[in-house]
Amino acid sequence: MRKREQWKSQIGFLLAAVGSAIGLGNIWRFSYMAYTYGGGAFLIPYLTALFTAGIPLLILEFAIGHERIGSAPLAYAKIRKNWEWLGWWAVTFVMFGIVLYYVVIIAWCLNYFIMSFSLDWGADPNTFFFEKFLAVSGSASKMGQIRTPIFFALIIIWFINWAVVYRGVQKGIELANKIFMPMLFVLTAVLVFWSLNLEGASEGIKAYLTPDFSKIMNPKVWIDAYSQIFFTLSLGFGIMIAYASYLPEKSDITKNAVLTAFLNSGYSLFAGFAVFSVLGFMAHAQQKAISDVVSQSIGLAFVAYPKALSLMPGGNLFGAIFFFCLVVAGVSSSVSIIEAFTSAMVDKFNLNRKTLVSVISILGFLGSIVFTTQAGLIWLDIVDHFLTNYGLVVVGIAECILVGWLFDIYILQKHVNRVSSIKLGRVWVGLIRYFVPGMLAIMLFGALKAEVTKPYSGYSWAAIGLIGVNWIVLTVLVAVVLATRPWRTEQNKKGGRSEK
Ligand code: ALA
Repeated sequence: MRKREQWKSQIGFLLAAVGSAIGLGNIWRFSYMAYTYGGGAFLIPYLTALFTAGIPLLILEFAIGHERIGSAPLAYAKIRKNWEWLGWWAVTFVMFGIVLYYVVIIAWCLNYFIMSFSLDWGADPNTFFFEKFLAVSGSASKMGQIRTPIFFALIIIWFINWAVVYRGVQKGIELANKIFMPMLFVLTAVLVFWSLNLEGASEGIKAYLTPDFSKIMNPKVWIDAYSQIFFTLSLGFGIMIAYASYLPEKSDITKNAVLTAFLNSGYSLFAGFAVFSVLGFMAHAQQKAISDVVSQSIGLAFVAYPKALSLMPGGNLFGAIFFFCLVVAGVSSSVSIIEAFTSAMVDKFNLNRKTLVSVISILGFLGSIVFTTQAGLIWLDIVDHFLTNYGLVVVGIAECILVGWLFDIYILQKHVNRVSSIKLGRVWVGLIRYFVPGMLAIMLFGALKAEVTKPYSGYSWAAIGLIGVNWIVLTVLVAVVLATRPWRTEQNKKGGRSEK
């Protein structure tokens, strides 16, 4: 039997986990959320979500992978045979869903990295982005043409992903993250210190951090904080389970989980200084209020930021570093998604890793093309909405029920305590059994209620049904089919580390 791959070092594992966690969302989504949801006061729901759900679930996913020694489908199958499909569903909808559009956003960033050098977006980055760069068609059914610059960048991004995952856990993922992560930290520090010295930066920082406690009285802020923590820590993706399965027996699970979570959130908070100093500078330069120059998510990175770069001395270099950081943060997350699926296929079907990675990279590339068309933005928005709000959250709830109620959770607790420095007590068990699934269920029902009241973001019901709902249904079907195929390895016959 093939030997399971292993990380070369604990730091290699930690950097890979941090690389998966720190992604596109850390740079723009966190800062924007903090700003709109009460500035410094947002840290209360954010940190509460981190400590009551993020860290406990991350420990759980690390523990499942490490104790059961398997990727998500294998680990779930070893917990309860008929739950294997859940693991397949997680790795399938992230591989043939989330990563397909995620790499397209990285491809936009790569284009903007190149365009930064000559500030190609001109005086009106909004018109440039939506009308020239994406040439948005206005309807999901009007696909229009493939946007050539995005298409070529997509080839490069898929190639990098392929090259990293193809080389395996140690020589590919571990090595890449050992280069990517320090580089990302240094470049982000350059951006932060540079931006703090811009005129008006302090106004931006004030807007970012001044606490407004009235905002956090709104339950939506809390729900959004939980969902941000969930996505940013790559929970429910099957990634952390696969990554922990490559750890040697003696590995400190809780310490690694806490470090991953702190590095990830610390990075978000830190990068927010660069985002808001630049917005402060722009507001100052245009004699406007911060609220008039800020915009959310993609608007922040591809409209507000480019505008500021055009006004800034040395803006082209600053922009190039900024978009390069997004590419690096994005790729270190996309490789982790591809690995979660690869690991699952190798565990079950005993496939040759290199051939498998080549095949799924080509399939992934072909699947991504739809998001490079003129309807790409609309497709991306709908698929993202469904997979993150329903896919990830359902996996999170099911994971807690599976381990907390259908399995002896104390086996995992004992295992973690045997190998870790920070010990788990009753609080962790209680959080996994009651609090985390309860909180995720509230998020799920909130989303479902909003869903049936009116079509998401004003799209047609047909587009929502055909794209969003079908994506969920199809990936469930694929998962069920994969789960019912016979095992080509003996892996599922072996128990966890505790049973040896
Ligand atoms: N955790 C990754 C991100 O935040 C997926 O982008």
